[in-house]
Amino acid sequence: MQGEASILVTGGGGFLGSHLCERLLAEGHHVICVDNFFTGSRGNLTALLRHPRFEVMRHDVCLPLYVECDAIYNLACPASPVHYQRDPVQTVKTNVAGAINMLGLAKRVKARIFQASTSEVYGDPEQHPQTEAYWGHVNPIGARSCYDEGKRCAETLFFDYHRQHGVEVKVARIFNTYGPRMHPNDGRVVSSFIVQALTGQDITLFGDGSQTRSFCYVDDLIEGFLRLMNSDAGLSGPVNLGNPEEFTIAELARMVVEMTGSRSRLVFRPLPQDDPRQRRPDISLARKALGWQPTVPLREGLARTIAHFDALLSRGEGGIDPGFRQAAAPPVH
Ligand SMILES: NC(=O)c1ccc[n+]([C@@H]2O[C@H](COP(=O)([O-])OP(=O)(O)OC[C@H]3O[C@@H](n4cnc5c(N)ncnc54)[C@H](O)[C@@H]3O)[C@@H](O)[C@H]2O)c1
Repeated sequence: MQGEASILVTGGGGFLGSHLCERLLAEGHHVICVDNFFTGSRGNLTALLRHPRFEVMRHDVCLPLYVECDAIYNLACPASPVHYQRDPVQTVKTNVAGAINMLGLAKRVKARIFQASTSEVYGDPEQHPQTEAYWGHVNPIGARSCYDEGKRCAETLFFDYHRQHGVEVKVARIFNTYGPRMHPNDGRVVSSFIVQALTGQDITLFGDGSQTRSFCYVDDLIEGFLRLMNSDAGLSGPVNLGNPEEFTIAELARMVVEMTGSRSRLVFRPLPQDDPRQRRPDISLARKALGWQPTVPLREGLARTIAHFDALLSRGEGGIDPGFRQAAAPPVH
């Protein structure tokens, strides 16, 4: 989006949404942040609330929304299994009804619209790394299906609105992303390991820790969002955005222990249902079409994330209270 524009960000109070709002404000845009604060928080927006070009609306995207805007980033959806499995029907509604409402708005106001899709559309993949041409291997009736199939249906809607109504769509398939303002206790692997290490708890690994993941630092991802949104109208996607460098879960755990100087022990538990063995993006398309690739090495991103959680813990903020030691959910990778 060139020049000064009015940009709607759904899920703007969440981890990625708050970083996106910050970046869009820094680029000189007006930002309307829409969130029902199911997993997001006003705390994520503290630094932005007084900004003259920033507006927050408490709203559930399952309901229609009428606002004027030039572009829409649709991020509203709980992203971690702990949260999206709490109310699976609501997760499907957020993905499907939310997409219909935001696409309807985009159609009415002739706005370009970006969808935060996910690597979960590939399910437990049989191809490594995954290119955008891979159709995926998803269980349609499992505990993760509300999210995986909800996101797949949202992609269908985006491409149908594009074909049927000429809406300009941009679909990003996001792979594991981490950074400051992740939820400290939502079971995502990076935040869980860091908090467990900083609080001296055992670090819980599922399986033998040899399953691999790739981790993208949030600033890199947001740069990818903007490049995709600002790309030629001919590029609708889907475009994989993530870090192709693979680490085993055990390597990540050891790195966190070393960097925090923790005495935590690694403990192993059985793998949960439908947990993918390996996931790594092929980002050739993003490299070629957007000139984009991650630039922040894992160690550097981890250092910034550890500093963030360390500060939260020392202030007793961010939902990490003294009860956290017992209350922390085991990580879902
Ligand atoms: N973080 C990742 O690694 C990752 C990976 C793949 C995809 N994504 C996608 O990116 C988006 C943002 O993820 P995140 O990590 O920032 O998660 P998050 O949970 O921090 O943010 C999601 C935001 O959406 C809001 N929300 C949920 N349901 C809503 C509804 N019905 N109406 C309005 N707001 C609603 C939440 O309150 C929250 O602020 C999600 O769509 C997620 O599926 C994230």
